[in-house]
Amino acid sequence: MTEALIDPVVFNPYDYHFHDDPYPTYKRLREESPLYHNPDVGFWALSRYADVVDGFKDNKRLSSANGVSLDPAAYGPHAHYVMSFLAMDDPRHMRLRQLVSRGFTPRRVAELDGRILELTKQHLVPALGAGEFDWITEVAGKLPMDVISELMGVPEPDRAELRRKADLVVHREAGVLDVPQPAVEASISLMGYYKEMIAQRRRSRTDDLTSALLDAEIDGDKLSDQEILGFMFLMVVAGNETTTKLLGNALYWGSHHREQITPVLDDPERASEWVEETLRYDTSSQIVARTSVVDLEYHGRTIPAGEKVLLLIGSANRDADVFEDADSFQIGRSSSGKLASFGGGVHFCLGAHLAKLEAKIALAEFGRRVSDYEVDESGIERVHSTNVRGFAALPVKVQVR
Ligand code: HEM
Repeated sequence: MTEALIDPVVFNPYDYHFHDDPYPTYKRLREESPLYHNPDVGFWALSRYADVVDGFKDNKRLSSANGVSLDPAAYGPHAHYVMSFLAMDDPRHMRLRQLVSRGFTPRRVAELDGRILELTKQHLVPALGAGEFDWITEVAGKLPMDVISELMGVPEPDRAELRRKADLVVHREAGVLDVPQPAVEASISLMGYYKEMIAQRRRSRTDDLTSALLDAEIDGDKLSDQEILGFMFLMVVAGNETTTKLLGNALYWGSHHREQITPVLDDPERASEWVEETLRYDTSSQIVARTSVVDLEYHGRTIPAGEKVLLLIGSANRDADVFEDADSFQIGRSSSGKLASFGGGVHFCLGAHLAKLEAKIALAEFGRRVSDYEVDESGIERVHSTNVRGFAALPVKVQVR
């Protein structure tokens, strides 16, 4: 009798033991139950690389219009109010994405290079002075929101307050599924701030993204103020926490592979390899949801129409059919465009390039200033979330060069 028959795999994305280390469960899912059904929580899950990647591309039969999160509070026909075009299907999604892309261009992102470095130093230098500090509180939790603010054109004095509110928007007490009142209030307040900023740029343009979005046009079609506001909010929700967690996961796994990390700290050019392998080995956006539009056949079973279907990104990135020695962390391995970390198809992450650039600059600067570091395991706190993976607290002790 096989192990599977004695002890069938159980997958519950709300389970804290699962959060401690999801990878053994993912492995069993891929091997024993590549189409998994959990009728109690109410979802189906695809765990093999090929199914996840095909699922991203199959946007006709797997819809995003009910939201892309497992959590009931972020799932349903109103999801687009907070998730903008991430929670829409084509053609609505494509219209908004194309218009936004007129302003959110690769060139605009590349031009941020120097400012990202300055912002990194602003947070990193004082923290290093202390010798021991919390990487999340002092650096990783601040940089992504500052970069988004820089991009949109938020004046510096307002940024700390916006950061505080953005943290409240995404923060959830463990186990609480409803959106907490402070998150609702912070969302309303952030929306109010951005609304005023858009109105102000309408009166007088500058060279920031907000102004570029006001001028974005395709065949006479333009974004409304409400649509620009929706996109700004999406950047805060989709781009902020994921990048913070990426920076945390990179430092954590680096500290667990001392023989690999020392040469990477010594050679800032290799920071992008560190980022890439962290994105594969332990990515910050682990699970996204879809809704089946029609009955779908997978591995001899049928997902009925109208069901919630999870694409397990974290599992796809550990699939041994695609990545050699998939469970080992190897900075410098070539994943050559195969990562599932930023999704795929029409909803491929619009901020992927920005997130990678930001993480590369921050980690290279860390290496330029730090010759060695260790994580204080007794002080780490993990975020308990069904989709975001990473730390709320990551105390580090550094050896400054
Ligand atoms: C979409 C991951 C950073 C903006 C996505 C998706 C994933 C993802 C998996 C696809 C979701 C789906 O198909 O349902 C990540 C990760 C990040 C990151 C792991 C950091 C490590 C960012 C940043 C921004 C951003 C920095 C912008 C400032 C977006 C937007 C979409 C998206 C706008 C929606 C695209 C669409 O629906 O067409 N991201 N993201 N992301 N991401 Fe990111």
